[in-house]
Amino acid sequence: ALISLRQLLDYAAEHGFAVPAFNISNMEQVQAIMQAADACDSPVIMQGSAGANRYAGEVFLRHLILAAVEQYPHIPVVMHRDHAPSPDICAQAIQSGFSSVMMDGSLLEDMKTPALFDYNVEVTRRVVNMAHACGVSVEGEIGCLGSLENQDDHSQLLTDPDEAVAFVEQTQIDALAVAIGTSHGAYKFSKPPTGEVLVISRLKTLQQRLPNMHFVMHGSSSVPQDWLQVINEYGGDIAETYGVPVAEIVEGIKYGVRKVNIDTDLRMASTGAIRRFIAKPENAAELDARKIYQAARDAMQTLCQARYEAFGSAGHA
Ligand code: G3H
Ligand code: 13P
Ligand code: NA
Ligand code: ZN
Repeated sequence: ALISLRQLLDYAAEHGFAVPAFNISNMEQVQAIMQAADACDSPVIMQGSAGANRYAGEVFLRHLILAAVEQYPHIPVVMHRDHAPSPDICAQAIQSGFSSVMMDGSLLEDMKTPALFDYNVEVTRRVVNMAHACGVSVEGEIGCLGSLENQDDHSQLLTDPDEAVAFVEQTQIDALAVAIGTSHGAYKFSKPPTGEVLVISRLKTLQQRLPNMHFVMHGSSSVPQDWLQVINEYGGDIAETYGVPVAEIVEGIKYGVRKVNIDTDLRMASTGAIRRFIAKPENAAELDARKIYQAARDAMQTLCQARYEAFGSAGHA
């Protein structure tokens, strides 16, 4: 059944677990996420970005998630709009049936400037008013995540606790995306991260100030080294890079992390599986492209199930 983010995260907080929020843009991802959830009895968050809308089209994206809800009626599913840049885009998502939206106040439409606190409060508050009237949840963001526009900009603007408290109070959001040193994409850290660059301790401080808030970690792919090797072994050329270790996320869950955004890991698993499948001599004459997609879907399913189990959502559907 389709449920709101708030319903799911309140339950997750009660039971001390977090839910991976997987980005989707095609059917094989949706099926991998659902098959893994079904296998280990986990609730599901699927989210669509602007890029996903450009790739699949908003209608297809939405109906893929609705198909998952119909196929797996026993699994709670949150349909979330990731990184909406404006209240208008949030309104569209709410109208088309999403049960959760993220108002990303750092993405000013037509302006690539860092958002001012007051602007962020104003747009987020507007979205909360709209969304809550419809039973839809809202994720807001305070601090500067590694930029979506510029993957090289790893400027460490961690979430400020005073700002976070004021923001939550003034907006009444359901979940807060925090900046603790992560960034989007595969290139997060040039070495396995230490506490200096991946600041899990900031979550502890934030939880002391906001004991009832649900925190969201963006940029939380772990960038599996085994998939990186597979990609490179079969013709890829990915530079050395490291993600957010699963163990660090598990640590964050102790301090209120309830939603963990993952996109890159599924991209890596599917790209690696496809490269490896196609390169095998025994598949050289294969023309049934479903076999290729199947390899990708299997790889993604394994990865999803590992995250459900590590974050503790397994067994809670
Ligand atoms: O929001 C985070 C996603 O990883 C963005 O990816 O816009 O390329 O779909 P996308
Ligand atoms: P990754 O690029 O680490 O998978 O992060 C995805 C994300 O935060 C989507 O909002
Ligand atoms: Na989001
Ligand atoms: Zn994100």
